[in-house]
Amino acid sequence: MKAVVVETPEKITVVERDIPEITSTQVLLKVKAAGICGSDVGIYHGKNAFATYPRVVGHEFVGEVVKVGADVKNAAVGDHIAVDPVVSCGHCYACRTGRHNVCKTVNVLGVHRDGGYQEYVAVEQNQLHQLPKDLPWEIAATVEPYSIGAQVAHQGRLTGDDTVLICGAGPIGLIILQVAKMKGAKVAILDVVDSRLETAKEMGADMVINSKTKDPVEAMNEFTGGEGFNLIYEATGNVNVLQMCIQKLPSPAGRVVVLGFSTVEFPIRQVDIMSKELEIIGTRLNNYRFPEVIEWFKEGKVDPKSIVTNTFPFTEADKAFQYNDEHPENVLKIVLTF
Ligand SMILES: NC(=O)c1ccc[n+]([C@@H]2O[C@H](COP(=O)([O-])OP(=O)(O)OC[C@H]3O[C@@H](n4cnc5c(N)ncnc54)[C@H](O)[C@@H]3O)[C@@H](O)[C@H]2O)c1
Ligand SMILES: [Zn+2]
Ligand SMILES: [Zn+2]
Repeated sequence: MKAVVVETPEKITVVERDIPEITSTQVLLKVKAAGICGSDVGIYHGKNAFATYPRVVGHEFVGEVVKVGADVKNAAVGDHIAVDPVVSCGHCYACRTGRHNVCKTVNVLGVHRDGGYQEYVAVEQNQLHQLPKDLPWEIAATVEPYSIGAQVAHQGRLTGDDTVLICGAGPIGLIILQVAKMKGAKVAILDVVDSRLETAKEMGADMVINSKTKDPVEAMNEFTGGEGFNLIYEATGNVNVLQMCIQKLPSPAGRVVVLGFSTVEFPIRQVDIMSKELEIIGTRLNNYRFPEVIEWFKEGKVDPKSIVTNTFPFTEADKAFQYNDEHPENVLKIVLTF
């Protein structure tokens, strides 16, 4: 079979490998589609602190079961499957308290272990989620990024009563927008790329803010009558944006949810947190949220078609990465097809 390997940063090759053997608790999946995420591109460019090399990247993948281990209870040959890429230890503090996505030794397929950019993958039964067979593969590949949307909604305690700001109208910011609108919230979204803000408007954003041309504090005053945003998502990855989110934009009793993982330091004032009882909340990966997302897809509550803008054959992953880097105005999510 063929596999796409990032050998070292900036060096990607298509290699021949043996089809993996499965254990009694695994299935063999024939991969059908795999999304390209910012973190895959980051691994390619050597900018992901969590990754090790050489690595078959790809954590947003779906496929068809072609072989089933003797002890597997939840899958049969022919099933369409989405793979939750989070692997945890089961006994550390985070795992014991029901938060395996921040397991002390969390592993992610495609980051710490080989992932989905290969024709066949052996997957543990506890990572399998059944997909409806009429869901097109390239759309199904967005279940994982939508699971981030489900996780951030949970972490931020998002409700329909909230006035929400999303910083960043990339694929993740736009998914959060769809989730927040589904819940009935009033949502503003901020970016510096007009085409992405246009897309946000089409997806139902109540206000779009280009922070190059509009002062976000002014926008906040207009949108919230001076109260501030109740819930803010920082999904640009830029620490200056996060600093502004903490200092200038929240309402009293507000929450700021942090998605980015920059290691850049920035100043923060106690009084901004204390005086509003501001909560600054982390969010990472997803905590068993695939079933919820698959229900949203079945019920048409979100619009994953709108996120997938391009497809490339998986053997042209290098071209797809390059296209992703060079055309932020045209691309939301590229899906590799098999
Ligand atoms: N915590 C998690 O589990 C998790 C999961 C997925 C992604 N992420 C992170 O979420 C963030 C968003 O992911 P994405 O795939 O949508 O990324 P992306 O890079 O496609 O989108 C980021 C958006 O932010 C905008 N932006 C960048 N700097 C800005 C600035 N200074 N002011 C205003 N806008 C700015 C960009 O124009 C872009 O549209 C990234 O930081 C990513 O690493 C976190
Ligand atoms: Zn991702
Ligand atoms: Zn653990």
